[in-house]
Amino acid sequence: MKRDYPRLSEPLQIKGVTFRNRMVSAPLGATDITAEGSPGPRTQGFYEARARGGAAAVTVSELVVHPETDGSQMLKLSLETSGQLAAFTFVADAIKRHGAIPGIELSHSGQYAGTYMVDKKSKKMLGQFGPSDGVRPDGLPVTALNKEQISSIAAAYAEKAALAKRVGFGMVMVHAGHSWLLNQFLSPYFNKRTDEYGGSLKNRLRMTREVLASVRSAVGEYFPIELRLSGSELFNGGYDLAEGVRIAEELEELVDIIHVSAGSYQFGFTTTHPSMFKPHGLNVHMAAEIKKHVKIPVATVGALSDPQKMENIIAAGQADIVAMGRALLADPEIPNKIMANRGADVIKCLRCFVCMAERPVTQTRRCAINPLIGREIEGLTVPVTNAGKKVLVAGGGIAGMKAAVTAALRGHRVTLAEKSAALGGILNTERAVPFKMAMYELGLSYARACEQAGVQILLHTRVDAAFVDEFAPDALIIAVGSTPIKPPLQGIDSPTAVSVNTLYLEGAALGSEVVVLGGGLTGCECALHLSQTGKTVHLVEMRGEPAPDANIRHRPILLAELSAAGIDMRLNTSGLEITKEGLRVRDAEGNEQLIKGDNVVYAVGQTSRSDDVNTLRDGAPWVRVIGDAVRPANITTAIYEAYHAGLDIM
Ligand SMILES: Cc1cc2nc3c(=O)[nH]c(=O)nc-3n(C[C@H](O)[C@H](O)[C@H](O)COP(=O)(O)O)c2cc1C
Repeated sequence: MKRDYPRLSEPLQIKGVTFRNRMVSAPLGATDITAEGSPGPRTQGFYEARARGGAAAVTVSELVVHPETDGSQMLKLSLETSGQLAAFTFVADAIKRHGAIPGIELSHSGQYAGTYMVDKKSKKMLGQFGPSDGVRPDGLPVTALNKEQISSIAAAYAEKAALAKRVGFGMVMVHAGHSWLLNQFLSPYFNKRTDEYGGSLKNRLRMTREVLASVRSAVGEYFPIELRLSGSELFNGGYDLAEGVRIAEELEELVDIIHVSAGSYQFGFTTTHPSMFKPHGLNVHMAAEIKKHVKIPVATVGALSDPQKMENIIAAGQADIVAMGRALLADPEIPNKIMANRGADVIKCLRCFVCMAERPVTQTRRCAINPLIGREIEGLTVPVTNAGKKVLVAGGGIAGMKAAVTAALRGHRVTLAEKSAALGGILNTERAVPFKMAMYELGLSYARACEQAGVQILLHTRVDAAFVDEFAPDALIIAVGSTPIKPPLQGIDSPTAVSVNTLYLEGAALGSEVVVLGGGLTGCECALHLSQTGKTVHLVEMRGEPAPDANIRHRPILLAELSAAGIDMRLNTSGLEITKEGLRVRDAEGNEQLIKGDNVVYAVGQTSRSDDVNTLRDGAPWVRVIGDAVRPANITTAIYEAYHAGLDIM
């Protein structure tokens, strides 16, 4: 068979270990961790999904190597804790049985110990250690590690690596990036020591060299060690790419793969975990530079998901391996699809940060567009039924499409009726916004999946009571969505006022100065987009904070973008009237004033199409209402409800 992506599909031999292709799963934390620090069954299922999806290697993370100086509530592995060896063995087995190499990330958070702990009080009680005494930005004191502690940490790396090998892991990744402990020692910003572990690069490298030598002594020659580095720390005072290259050159003799990430936890978070505002593969140039200077294989990571672009990276010799994190949450099957010439079926990550935001809030893992994430053990495949029900789905937005595909895969006869000329619903509006293009493309992917699953699609078809009576479905899924709320303001029907949805779908000739009314997530993203097209933008929000409906990871990034764009943000301000000159408002002090603008774009929320829902409720013996038709929420909720509606049909 001729592969569409021959370079991505090519195997790679490292220390006698065969990587079946060039695509690996980057570390993604654990889903459930027991009180003792063992991976729970959901963590096993989480990692197994990526192995089953065809990744060459799957790295489980993060294993805290030295709990005495790093009390982070991450995975731990020791002989003292009953059941730990078994729990890790099951995880390694689950990855191995699908042909992937199980790897585990050995880590020490150093002065950032406890960063991801949910309980901030416990974090304070931990005690944080780093290369030098200091105070963290959040006020917690940092104590410099003494030489005995450094030796003990290096020995602990060896001990954990040996245990990882014993329970069946086929490689280890040593985390020396993202401002974690080894990175802190490498960094002139964090490392102010005056002994042999600080000062010159040679001295700053010393701890990492000791750790790597110690790991090698534990695992032997023929066991791949991958070193995760930040190519550049990306902040003033940290090391730059030129020094990143030297670090890689100095350490290559001790490892087998150099995995080039970027940035740090505290600074450059949106380059380490590229946000939707950043381009695809923005860190590749760092791997490419390092690759020019080392002989061992180099991996690149960060906002990679497009098959052709990843193929080009390998073909151009910029890296030997592409690592994907969030892309394999959105679609764990990417490697399988690429190997099978099904690149067009890849579902791309939105880079919306739902995956990262969920953990600090609920201690679980979730993905906006993959309803199985964090819930893999509840079933990874759609069980086929021979019931073969006649199913009607009303509404061809994201929820309707997901429900229709799922029901069709179950084995039902599914018809999807959409009143407009195209599937996609509200996602079609996102086409207008470059940084949300992945959302628009998601609609296209789902439409394609509907066709492939054999869903009968009826466009220009409004489902009303008469239609349902005539159709006589066994099951009816109501996914009729929502409509934009029109604020009851004087002047709202004037030609200068437009809803955000209409603006995106139909376009409108806006003047150079625009007022966006409504500072929720949609309004904020609209304001940013308009400013990126060169408009002067005023954003008016009646509540005291912008975008309260954005998730806790995306929100600060969005607000930073708004601030960098110089958007004039008016909080605690209510719109009163739309005039030819702009928007008359009542400001935070209770005074009336005019905010000048050629146009007012309103984004004050959506309301469910409840009337339509009510006319359809009795349309079939089995009925389910899903998505925005229940209550306007978000894509995560819509897809989750849709998937389960498709599964549940009786
Ligand atoms: C939910 C989540 C958990 C992560 N956990 C870890 C981790 O435990 N260790 C680590 O080195 N990186 C971790 N990362 C970073 C990823 O490995 C990866 O470097 C980053 O997400 C950029 O790649 P991507 O754009 O393909 O997601 C995590 C990322 C995400 C999204």
